[in-house]
Amino acid sequence: MVRKKMIAGNWKMNMSPKETVKLLGELKPMVSGSDVDVVFCVPAIDIVSAVETVAGTDIQIGAENMFYEEKGAYTGEISPNMLVEAGVSYIIIGHSERRQYFKETDEMINKKVRKAIEHDLTPIICCGETLEQREQGITLEFIKKQIIGAFMHVSPEQAMHCIIAYEPIWAIGTGRVASSAQAQEVCQGIRATIRNIYGNQVADQIRILYGGSVNAGNAKELFSEEDIDGGLVGGASLKPEFAQIVHYKDL
Ligand code: 13P
Repeated sequence: MVRKKMIAGNWKMNMSPKETVKLLGELKPMVSGSDVDVVFCVPAIDIVSAVETVAGTDIQIGAENMFYEEKGAYTGEISPNMLVEAGVSYIIIGHSERRQYFKETDEMINKKVRKAIEHDLTPIICCGETLEQREQGITLEFIKKQIIGAFMHVSPEQAMHCIIAYEPIWAIGTGRVASSAQAQEVCQGIRATIRNIYGNQVADQIRILYGGSVNAGNAKELFSEEDIDGGLVGGASLKPEFAQIVHYKDL
């Protein structure tokens, strides 16, 4: 099964609308001409400028969060309709930073996943263990629980089009990347969990990304692994280095 690779940037809480126009204007020509899907997930306030800046290219824009209700008295939240109208196609759901700082639970993440699918937004569903869990040897067990929780009441047809991002918390923003063997082991475990829930077709088709200190020096090795279908890139997506990661085959 050949799955198309995806390289997605997660800007987190970086870049103003003006900086967005400048950075994407610079990166746009540099990321063209690859055979991977290129996505930039940007802060909500940057979405409109980002969509305008990449218009006419294959680059897709994603959001970093959304709420699971349609509308109403939820001060500060953003609805799926708002994102769709603004031109968003992907949505990061359940990033470890949201689980940690904003107390998002597996149940909330599942509600967001289902709501995103309902609006034809492709969820990029994040999972990943802490260093403590890794040291205790419970990584696969813990991630299996996160995956089962995220995909509750999601049909096989819907699941097939979702993206999963495996991001070990100890590798995020630390410069301490998982070895390609460690990343492959967990991504294979995630695919096995999906196989158990949905069967072969979904498991063979669903894309699983690795995230956590991905850079131009480690991208090629990571993305050569059997079950790693690309990357979710934080820090390096704010720099020209992102274009090298997109063209990882040439590295
Ligand atoms: P870094 O690439 O900065 O480690 O961030 C990874 C990440 O959290 C992407 O979602």
